[in-house]
Amino acid sequence: MERIRLRLANNSYDVLIGSGILSQMGSRLKENGFSGSLVIITNPIVNRHYGASLQRNLTEEGFSVTTLLVPDGEVQKSLHTAGKLYQQLANSYAERTTPILALGGGVIGDLAGFVAATYMRGIPLVQIPTTLLAQVDSSIGGKVAVDHEQLKNEIGAFYQPRLVITDIDTLKTLDSKTFRDGLAEVIKYGVIRDKKFFNYLETNLAKIIAFDETVLEKVVYWSVEIKARVVEKDEKDLGLRSILNFGHTIGHAIETVSNFGIVHAEAVAIGMIIAARISAQLGTFDRDELARLENLIKAAGLPTKIPNLEAKQLIQAMQHDKKVRQGRLRLVLPKRLGEVFIIDQVELPLVEQILVEGNETA
Ligand SMILES: NC(=O)c1ccc[n+]([C@@H]2O[C@H](COP(=O)([O-])OP(=O)(O)OC[C@H]3O[C@@H](n4cnc5c(N)ncnc54)[C@H](O)[C@@H]3O)[C@@H](O)[C@H]2O)c1
Ligand SMILES: [Zn+2]
Repeated sequence: MERIRLRLANNSYDVLIGSGILSQMGSRLKENGFSGSLVIITNPIVNRHYGASLQRNLTEEGFSVTTLLVPDGEVQKSLHTAGKLYQQLANSYAERTTPILALGGGVIGDLAGFVAATYMRGIPLVQIPTTLLAQVDSSIGGKVAVDHEQLKNEIGAFYQPRLVITDIDTLKTLDSKTFRDGLAEVIKYGVIRDKKFFNYLETNLAKIIAFDETVLEKVVYWSVEIKARVVEKDEKDLGLRSILNFGHTIGHAIETVSNFGIVHAEAVAIGMIIAARISAQLGTFDRDELARLENLIKAAGLPTKIPNLEAKQLIQAMQHDKKVRQGRLRLVLPKRLGEVFIIDQVELPLVEQILVEGNETA
């Protein structure tokens, strides 16, 4: 098992990463000062795979466990579902010291985290991420949120967990598409921060996809380490943390204009490529490195071309996203593999040209 300490001004915590560590949950919680009652928030799919053994382990270790089930799906990340959970917490006599264990992917993590942040002005939160995306991204850094009408992830808080327990074994039950969704963010970490990691991903991609446990544990560890070090420097997202948005400005526009027919990971994969091409066109990114990025994304089974969406509409969506100021776009662009820079004066005609060229019909 590996341990990564996230050092923050007031709320430092450990991320424990290993295979099979779900079965040590009770003792890990005790080491971190927990005892008595706890509440697991999960969904029926994750519960079917991991709920019973987790509950057994916790009960054996002397915890009194309540499990609250939320149906599967992004629509559950809502104030309505949060409201139901508050009621259920009150019915189960949850107190201010009762921890919530968020067992699941990013949806459960964000929703249960939001509930933990707000119920009685904050009760302890333990993240137990079970998708690759949740393990490398959403469980780290303390952003919790629900969606509300057109506001995606915009009703929320910075609320750090007390502990994150990441069991690589849980990834075995993911379908290949959900697994692949996490790979887009993994590749992002290599580009923004660490060329050695990028090289490692190139060399080991086949093993990652074939679920080589040793390789996968290293990939999750490395990704968490990169995100943790960025979050430590900028917990409240006022500066450095925005480099984590590499691929996301264009990606969000693609998600929006496609009416979410293109999922987040696919959109981010395309967004990274468009950003890299803009940088190459500006002369700030090497074309050989651009080719390496495209090849890695392709090898991961992620798309590299925009599926027939109007460039003008994409730009309009970015304008809505408040990323455009005085006809210029703010973007995170790669300088080289392992380093990005932020530029807020990319001219829109250039962006439009690259978006047109990046269309699959071009
Ligand atoms: N808070 C943050 O910083 C942050 C960062 C990135 C994304 N997010 C959020 O994360 C969410 C996406 O997360 P996600 O991709 O994990 O989606 P998800 O939580 O919907 O999980 C994807 C699917 O996998 C299932 N699942 C989960 N674990 C499983 C397992 N071990 N075996 C089999 N099936 C399993 C889920 O039930 C679901 O059907 C979005 O709402 C997004 O906004 C948050
Ligand atoms: Zn993302």
